[in-house]
Amino acid sequence: MASPELETAFLAAVGAGQLQDTAQFAEAHNVEHLVVVGLLKSLLAHDMITTEETEHSRWAPTAEGKSYLGVGSPEVQVFNAVTADGISLTDIKKQLGAAGDVGFKQAMQSKWVAIDKSGGEPKVVRKVEAVQDRVLAVITALAAGQESGASDAELAALKKRKLVQLDCWKTYRVGKGPAFALQRRKAATELTAEMLQKGTWREETFKEYNFNALGLPPAGGHLHPLLKVRSQFRKIFTQMGFEEMPTNNYVESSFWNFDALFQPQQHPARDAHDTFFLTKPAATPASTFPQDYLQRVKQTHQHGGYGSAGYGYDWKTAEAEKNLLRTHTTAVSSRMLYQLAQEGFRPAKYFSIDRVFRNEAIDRTHLAEFHQIEGVVCDYGLTLSDLIGTLQQFFDRLGLKKLRFKPAFNPYTEPSMEIFSYSEQLGKWIEVGNSGMFRPEMLRPMGLPEGVNVIAWGLGLERPTMILYNIDNIRDLFGHKVSLSMVKKNAVCRLGL
Ligand code: PHE
Repeated sequence: MASPELETAFLAAVGAGQLQDTAQFAEAHNVEHLVVVGLLKSLLAHDMITTEETEHSRWAPTAEGKSYLGVGSPEVQVFNAVTADGISLTDIKKQLGAAGDVGFKQAMQSKWVAIDKSGGEPKVVRKVEAVQDRVLAVITALAAGQESGASDAELAALKKRKLVQLDCWKTYRVGKGPAFALQRRKAATELTAEMLQKGTWREETFKEYNFNALGLPPAGGHLHPLLKVRSQFRKIFTQMGFEEMPTNNYVESSFWNFDALFQPQQHPARDAHDTFFLTKPAATPASTFPQDYLQRVKQTHQHGGYGSAGYGYDWKTAEAEKNLLRTHTTAVSSRMLYQLAQEGFRPAKYFSIDRVFRNEAIDRTHLAEFHQIEGVVCDYGLTLSDLIGTLQQFFDRLGLKKLRFKPAFNPYTEPSMEIFSYSEQLGKWIEVGNSGMFRPEMLRPMGLPEGVNVIAWGLGLERPTMILYNIDNIRDLFGHKVSLSMVKKNAVCRLGL
């Protein structure tokens, strides 16, 4: 970079109309021409000067060319190495190294030397008495910046041998620009109170904003993509008037996770192959469950009621007491609905987004812990149309507009529907969630009034996150293999745009 002194001298020369050639100026001030060109560009950007350029070119020796200065061109080195009675090529190469190779080729071409096989062993012998080192003369003259007297053809041949090159550069004649001054005025970077009070802002030049400048990456904490997508889902739910359910209990009893949801005690999902059961504490004492409710749940499982025949098996309290890691957030919904019934029913809309656990074989799309998003609406007289309409609104906000529904089965919903959305990106229908209307066998024992229906749906958080962040292996998203730089660098998330 140019020093302030150099800039002052440069502007003074321009002011005096004396800056005819930047190369001369550079030489006079003993700096590289490039430094002067840098200064010139910056002054030009501020309209302080005008320039007229002149193109120059000059032949100069390359690094290899320079390496022969003082020692002679390779061909002359070879010629000099040839003794009166000849020398073997191997010996030449031994003496001269790499120069021996090229030098021999050139000396042969110039017919300075020849191979003599008359004595058996081939030998290199001289064919002329003396030679002149034309190449060295040209390179020496060029290195000194003098006229070499070489013809275009000679220079072209030396260029082909990579001994010389054509250097091109520009120099400038500099004149005053519209904003010329002998001193550069530093543009103000901000408007100060003082400038306003004294009115000096009128004369100030202000530095322009650089809208292309990139911001500094935040050095502090970073949100994991799952958290970013979760907060977007949370926003959608709250915009739709849903309240968040308290999900801060990963450990749940089978009672709230399964029994309350009319899931029979023999159901395969209640197997240790699918569910993580706790060993310590292994059980929640049944005395802590609401006793009358527990009786109604037992009665409904065994004998039905509310228009249902029940499952007709012997419901065991011990099975309901077993502790587990909740397998779905519907366990939270069942607690909330029971509580709502106890408080005296009012229509309500709830949601939750939190972690659940399943004893799954782990692969690129499955983990043993993942996140569920769940929405629940309770009111009098809700129908399947309300469910479809609500789902349509919800997924619309995610940007998934084309939906289809397929009949499905859940122990706690009837009817149940899997939700499919058409992915333009993949060109096919993909499953995006599961839904249904909670069964009376689940709702009535809780004490929810006759005529109240509950529609609900659930989906995973990981799948949309993987699609949004282009991650194809779930282990790159969650768990000990996650790269911290992915967490630092991932983009903001805006759903439904
Ligand atoms: N709990 C269901 C699951 O684990 C999702 C679901 C929620 C289905 C609510 C229907 C109603 O997949």
